[in-house]
Amino acid sequence: MKALVLSGGKGTRLRPITHTGAKQLVPIANKPILFYVLENIIRLGIDDIGIVIAPETGEAVRQAVENANKWGANIDYILQPEPAGLAHAVKISRSFLKDSPFLMYLGDNLIGADLRQFYQRFLKEMPDALILLKKVPDPSRFGVAEIDELGQVLRLIEKPKQPPSDLALVGIYMFSSKIHEAIEHIRPSFRGELEITDAIQRLLDWNCPVLSYILKEWWLDTGKKDDLLEANTIVLDKWIERDVQGKTKNSVISGRVVLPSSSHVINSQIRGPVVIGEDVLIKNSFIGPFTSIGHRSKIINASLEHCVLLDGVEVINIERLEDALIGKHSRIVKNSTPPKALKLMIGDDSIVEIP
Ligand code: TTP
Repeated sequence: MKALVLSGGKGTRLRPITHTGAKQLVPIANKPILFYVLENIIRLGIDDIGIVIAPETGEAVRQAVENANKWGANIDYILQPEPAGLAHAVKISRSFLKDSPFLMYLGDNLIGADLRQFYQRFLKEMPDALILLKKVPDPSRFGVAEIDELGQVLRLIEKPKQPPSDLALVGIYMFSSKIHEAIEHIRPSFRGELEITDAIQRLLDWNCPVLSYILKEWWLDTGKKDDLLEANTIVLDKWIERDVQGKTKNSVISGRVVLPSSSHVINSQIRGPVVIGEDVLIKNSFIGPFTSIGHRSKIINASLEHCVLLDGVEVINIERLEDALIGKHSRIVKNSTPPKALKLMIGDDSIVEIP
């Protein structure tokens, strides 16, 4: 068994964060999304993994994975010259996949479960495709599946205006080698991409067995800012244990807080769940629940809650920062001296909301 992780793509919905970095490397509770994906795959005992990468971000993905150096699995990198669709990513990975059945996992998906039962169902029934589905309140935003009472898939539709069910495609699939033949028979869609849903539909047209499995636990597609903050909230809520090792002075640290030994907290209050990275300084500040602070960040005279700060961020003299996603090495500083003009250096596609 092999696994194919899709970690290319453009990430347009997460700009400007994705101008300078891969969206799969955006951290949730200070760990890249992609690492949760790899851990979930390796937990199944699959140790031959191909990661599809893009020319712009591929090197960063490779470095992050290699630097973590903890996988105990064979990892190959497969360059996709352009983001020409999920089925295209499978097509260019043929020499890695050969005729092996495989697990395909979108590298920006986060789920609140391991995949053991899903995987067992594939091994037991050996269909040509098994797709993971999740009931959602707003199915028209997603690819949607219509299934029968046994879970056999009848039809797949991309972003339907009138969804036939509330079952969205999560972005985790198992395939037999038959999928390659199906991909050979599809054409690019109206958006110019080779769609995996079209290839699966082709299997259905050929009467090949295509089964589904409904995920009961949470699923988050981390494509947009609010989804990402929501993912951070859930992961902090469910998976974080208190581990306070850093130095603290005149401070109150309550609840489930991760504070590594290289970080310092002075005259401050931290209320968990909160994750703080290495070499962070927090001084005269309040850090409220559901906040992740990246490595080498500085928070001085500030109050923040429900925020994700990437590495090297400085927040200084800010009364209240809430629901914010802040990219690497950004500085948010309020100068107390008048005149009260806003002085900004803002990259393309940034959003600054001023009440
Ligand atoms: P998407 O979220 O569908 O596409 P995207 O990454 O280009 O994002 P956006 O819509 O914000 O522009 O991709 C899902 C996952 O699959 C993501 O991890 C990127 C990856 N992917 C590839 O590896 N190759 C591709 O050709 C495409 C379309 C996506």
